[in-house]
Amino acid sequence: MAKKIIAITGSYRQGGVTDQAVAEVLAGAREAGAETGTIDLIDRRVEFCSNCRSCTQEPGEKRGACVLNDDMESILSAIDAADGLVLAAPVNCFNVTAIFRRFMERLLSYAYWPWGALGPEMRLRARRPAVLITSSAMPSLFGRVATGAIRALKGTAQAAGFRPAGSLFIGMASMKERPSLSEGEKRRARALGRRLAAA
Ligand SMILES: Cc1cc2nc3c(=O)[nH]c(=O)nc-3n(C[C@H](O)[C@H](O)[C@H](O)COP(=O)(O)O)c2cc1C
Repeated sequence: MAKKIIAITGSYRQGGVTDQAVAEVLAGAREAGAETGTIDLIDRRVEFCSNCRSCTQEPGEKRGACVLNDDMESILSAIDAADGLVLAAPVNCFNVTAIFRRFMERLLSYAYWPWGALGPEMRLRARRPAVLITSSAMPSLFGRVATGAIRALKGTAQAAGFRPAGSLFIGMASMKERPSLSEGEKRRARALGRRLAAA
C-alpha cells in the first residue's frame, strides 16, 4: 500500500518559497510512490488553546479530546493516519509564524499532564519520519542558529509522534517580491521527499 505523506504549512501566502519547497518535497515523495496531501493552516479554523488542559488528564496513547470545536480534530486525524509528515513555516520575528505556533499549542492533546504533575509526558514515541522546512531573509546558516524555527518544527514533529528525518532552511528568501527556489534547493527538497517516502 502506498505511504501517506501529509504536509502542514504555516505560510501566509500561496506560491512563496515555503510553499514551493513543500511542493518539491511532496513531488519527491510521489516519485517514490507515496500519496500526498497538504493542509494550509491559513485556510483552516484553528482557535487558540485555552490552557484548560482537559485534553491532558486521561492516561494512555490516545490523544485527549479537546473542548474546542474547530478544524483541529480533522487536521490531527490526518496527521494520525500519516506515515510521514512535512512541517513548514517561514521565519517571522525569529521563529515560526504565529499561525503555526497557534497550531503547535493545540498539540497538547498528545501529552498526558494530569493536575499535580510538574510537566507533560508525551503519549507517543517519535517513530514516523518528518521533514522540516523553513525560510528566512537571513542566510540559512545564520538562520539555523539565530532563530528558533528549526527547534519549534522539531518539537512539533516529536509531539505528534514523528522523528525529524531531514530539514531544509531556505535563506535569503526576501530579496525579491516573488522569490523562487534555486535549482539546488529544488534538488534537495525532492531528495528529502524521496527519503521521507522510503523511510
Ligand atoms: C512580519 C515579518 C517578519 C519577519 N521576520 C523575519 C526574521 O525575524 N528573520 C528573518 O530572517 N526573516 C524574517 N522575515 C522574512 C521572512 O522569513 C521571509 O520573507 C519568508 O521566507 C517568506 O516566506 P514565504 O515566501 O513562504 O512567504 C520576516 C517577514 C515578515 C513579513
